Amino acid sequence: MPIAAQTFETQRSEIAGFKIADIVKNYGTPAYVYDMAKIEERVRDLSAFDVVRYAQKACSNIAILDRLRRLGVVVDAVSAGEVKRAIAAGFNPKADPHCIVFTADVFDHEALSVVKEYGLHVNCGSPDMIQQLGKAIPGSSVTLRINPGFGHGHSQKTNTGGPQSKHGIWHEDVVECLRMADLHNVIVTGLHMHIGSGTDLEHLSQVCESLEKIALQVGRTLTTISAGGGLPVPYRQGQTYVDLDQYYSLWDATRKRLEASFGHPLSLEIEPGRYLVAESGFLIAEIRAIKKMGENMFYLLDAGFNDLARPILYGAYHPISIAHRDGRISKQTADVVVGGPLCESGDIFTQEEGGFVAKRELPVASVGDYLILEVAGAYGFVMASNYNGRYRVPEVLLENGSMHCIRARETFDDLIRGETIPPVH
Ligand SMILES: Cc1ncc(COP(=O)(O)O)c(C=O)c1O
Repeated sequence: MPIAAQTFETQRSEIAGFKIADIVKNYGTPAYVYDMAKIEERVRDLSAFDVVRYAQKACSNIAILDRLRRLGVVVDAVSAGEVKRAIAAGFNPKADPHCIVFTADVFDHEALSVVKEYGLHVNCGSPDMIQQLGKAIPGSSVTLRINPGFGHGHSQKTNTGGPQSKHGIWHEDVVECLRMADLHNVIVTGLHMHIGSGTDLEHLSQVCESLEKIALQVGRTLTTISAGGGLPVPYRQGQTYVDLDQYYSLWDATRKRLEASFGHPLSLEIEPGRYLVAESGFLIAEIRAIKKMGENMFYLLDAGFNDLARPILYGAYHPISIAHRDGRISKQTADVVVGGPLCESGDIFTQEEGGFVAKRELPVASVGDYLILEVAGAYGFVMASNYNGRYRVPEVLLENGSMHCIRARETFDDLIRGETIPPVH
């Protein structure tokens, strides 16, 4: 069943049944909050797939990883740090060697040693990784991440296929990679394609076709195919979800044709990041100044692009709502620009790709009211920085009627941790 189009309200007093005023009373602003019930709902949507592998880069807090693990989801890790996060969240590769897959285009030295220590399966995005893995751990089985020669993304920066992308093994190099795998005692058991974030069904059928062609070149050693990530979620009023039944059917048909050729079953994986966590996340900020600059009215917040970078990185659009501090509902609206506190003119949440400042029709608000950046759970907190000497904000999990702080607000000690002033001679 296709999921209905999304509608976004511009005023709210609650998130997932919790009063915004109560959340702010407990944790202050800015703060990220995640609605666990929404994550659970999104996991259930994907139950047709044999394996749901969470691309933790989207939101890697260990509490979120723990809850996903309890829901039967496994993880993708792109660095030694992400592998260790997964282990800290209870994933145990010694008991289940496929619960963490390492996916990258390069091994740094720490990543290769972590892969060796935990015996992780690797999804190789470069021919060099095959050689390096074969030398370090002869007899390894690997997945090849293929760049099919075309890509797709919600922005050029999230397009991960085609000749301009650094990701994956070029589709014409597969035969050479198989020769190299033989030479280095590595067995190719998986194929993976992730062409970018924001997949649609038209691109998907090209991806399936391309994966099938390459799978037939690899042959009967294959046991797994992965659809990668990229499942979109609506960020704007009226945007729809991909029809998951059709999405699954395209991949399942590809899998079945390959099973018929190989004469053995193939496991079908999906590797979403955004789809599982984006809609669960809200960044609550307080409006700290309201000012007019010529024809533009600005709402200036205590959160900036150091807290949520997607608008400045991609011109990404986030739905915005206002919660009045006194709980009133405002009938009047104004076209406003929403910005943050950073000493950077690009610190604007209502911007378009290319940095052009845009206005948004929002309820008339006052200093002290709360402004909520919505659908902020994916690529939100994980991209936060300490730019301008700002502390990274807390993360709060709303679950079964309770609020849990799953990451504390940073302090000045966190800000200067590891820094030293050398003696002057
Ligand atoms: C290899 C791989 N898998 C999965 C994902 C997750 O993508 P999304 O969050 O769009 O689902 C990414 C995102 O960059 C990726 O590079």
